[in-house]
Amino acid sequence: MAGSGSKPGDDNRKEILEKTCDTLRYMAEAGCTGFDCPEKIIDVVKNLDRNLTSASDDLKELRSRLGDCQRCKLCKERTNIVFGTGDPDARLVFVGEGPGYDEDQQGEPFVGKAGQLLTKIIEAMKLTRKQVYICNIIKCRPPGNRNPAPDEIKACFPFLDGQLDAIKPDYICALGTFAAQTLLDTVEPISRLRGRLFNLRGIKVMPTYHPAYLLRNPEKKRDVWEDMKKLMSMMDA
Ligand code: URA
Repeated sequence: MAGSGSKPGDDNRKEILEKTCDTLRYMAEAGCTGFDCPEKIIDVVKNLDRNLTSASDDLKELRSRLGDCQRCKLCKERTNIVFGTGDPDARLVFVGEGPGYDEDQQGEPFVGKAGQLLTKIIEAMKLTRKQVYICNIIKCRPPGNRNPAPDEIKACFPFLDGQLDAIKPDYICALGTFAAQTLLDTVEPISRLRGRLFNLRGIKVMPTYHPAYLLRNPEKKRDVWEDMKKLMSMMDA
């Protein structure tokens, strides 16, 4: 499992960026004032620069952009924004639905009863909460734990998108109907989605049942373990 810090290829990108800057400086000194540079190349250069920032810095920047978020009505009753926790360089991200009572109180995802079960699942995978990243589709608790409304998801989704952009995980485990359907933009039921592998912008997505559902239906734990075994064997391959 990757640790925190720079990503593979950073040294190479840094060298390319420095050489590009040297060349541009040299050309400017030689009197060149304009460049016929295609958009595509400008994007590559911009990305070289962007990729030099660490995932941890990108997440911190994203969290500060979220600020004391008032983008939707959930801000009125929340206690804490529950942004996410874990390794910014994680290969595996767990995405749940939204904070419940305990998460809202503590500002950390999956710390209540369902969270304790998720922690057990992670540990059964021979991982720790610190080695993965855990977050939710929405960052504030819906009153009475109701399902998030479409306008709330719309307001919050860019921040999940930003988290995935920063972390660049290889795998996402989508926990439950809501996370799976939102991430995969589908209305297929979780019973049909679970255990199958999907692709989200190059990230492999494995939906499985939500731990809160497992607390009500313990006989489904076997299915989740099958899904996690598939995930582990792909990650180890
Ligand atoms: N359920 C979720 O979907 N997310 C949490 O953080 C806690 C419970």
